[in-house]
Amino acid sequence: MVRMPPLTPPRVVPPASPLGRLAFIRAFVRNPLQVLPRAAYEEDFVAFGGAKLPRAWVTSPALIKAVLLDEREKFGKLTQIRLLGPLLGKGILTSEGADWKWQRQAVAPMFRPQELARFVPTFVRAAEDALARWRAMPPGSVQAIDEDMTRATFEVIAATLLPSADESFARTVQGSVQSLQRFGPWGILYASMNLPPWLPQPGMFAQARAVRILRSTVAALVREREGESDPPDDLMRRLIAARDPETGRSMGEAQLVDNLLTFYLAGHETTAKALTWTLYLLARSPEWTAALEDEIERVTGGAAIRGDQAADLVKVQQVLKESMRLYPPVPMMSRQAVADAQIDGHAIRAGTSILMPIYAIHRHAKRWDRPDEFDPARFSPEREAAIPRYQYMPFGAGPRLCIGMPFAMIEATVILATFLQRARFALARDEEPTPVASVTLIPKGGMPLKVSMKG
Ligand code: HEM
Repeated sequence: MVRMPPLTPPRVVPPASPLGRLAFIRAFVRNPLQVLPRAAYEEDFVAFGGAKLPRAWVTSPALIKAVLLDEREKFGKLTQIRLLGPLLGKGILTSEGADWKWQRQAVAPMFRPQELARFVPTFVRAAEDALARWRAMPPGSVQAIDEDMTRATFEVIAATLLPSADESFARTVQGSVQSLQRFGPWGILYASMNLPPWLPQPGMFAQARAVRILRSTVAALVREREGESDPPDDLMRRLIAARDPETGRSMGEAQLVDNLLTFYLAGHETTAKALTWTLYLLARSPEWTAALEDEIERVTGGAAIRGDQAADLVKVQQVLKESMRLYPPVPMMSRQAVADAQIDGHAIRAGTSILMPIYAIHRHAKRWDRPDEFDPARFSPEREAAIPRYQYMPFGAGPRLCIGMPFAMIEATVILATFLQRARFALARDEEPTPVASVTLIPKGGMPLKVSMKG
């Protein structure tokens, strides 16, 4: 392929010198990515926090493999459970060991490729619905793409895996998620500083209210299902039928709510952000847009995308992967050492927080050529095979790898391709969108883009 002109989209500039305690807190609550030191983009292991609060930025594939795979028994999800436990209880994302394993096994069959192919018409429909709303606007109108993507991916999750829900349910969930996103960094900061959970923190009442609303709304869906004689074959049905092989126990109402909420939340906001950043990058890259349009036309002939065609949209997937390298929807992962450990030559004391900044891992100077440049050719089938497994990890890695990865990849590919068949996207403002780490990686100030329809 012809070499495309270089494009270096917005990035977070690391602080020139290490931040003092107050500056760290100030930067962290504005945007947790701003506390990432330059060393996290250049070195493998950067310890900080001292003996009282031992923490380390960990970025090398060998170290990450040790934490997430080889030595995983010594690293727990303590911070994640503390932060998300009140909302997601003991569901699949926020449980560990045997408690986690049977839940994962119970839902795994929903994510087999043959199961996913039947969802493709729903992905197309969600994209067509967004296109219909844009078509109803004057040509070239500015659209809030981040909000439109959240709406489309919510429509998908509600219509595929979960009990379908109406508009007011969608609004309730969106409103509560926004309030959780707004105060997210405070919770992460308190947890990472080991402050007691009862200590007052900004937004705590709004958050508690959001948790209450989300849980009671989903509990109502569970109760509704109990009265149905012929329930659809969806995730809820599998969750209700699942049995813990050790105890024979099934999930009670609370644990069903835990899991349904987990899938609602983990399963749409992330994909929405992947699509949002991708459309932004394409609005800045007419060359890649044209290459994708050609591929989509060749594969589909302009018709609605079929389940067996998603795999042939190779360049569309390359662009999505490169977009998630530069703007990983989950920008940061962490684990806490629950026992002393030795990982790749580093002695880790029990109690140490291991921070895996996916954002910096994906832009690491040692491992990526021109790390801040948008270059989807890195993920061409020939070159992608040479990228080490733990160097590119938008979906995490190890046994806790995102269970929704294949779902999200097909969904994003089909939605993006459907958009590009019918619409053009252009920048709507000069200001570049700064990536801000909240629960997901959001563009500061939203993502307004001009949308016009083709033909
Ligand atoms: C682009 C989209 C997505 C991204 C970037 C993403 C990212 C991630 C990451 C990084 C993790 C690992 C967290 C950790 O180990 O600490 C994870 C876990 C998880 N994701 Fe996703 N995800 C996406 C889409 C989805 C979708 C579509 C679903 C469901 C339909 C989903 C459901 C889950 C669940 C249930 C877990 C917990 C798995 C376990 O602990 O066994 N995700 N995701």
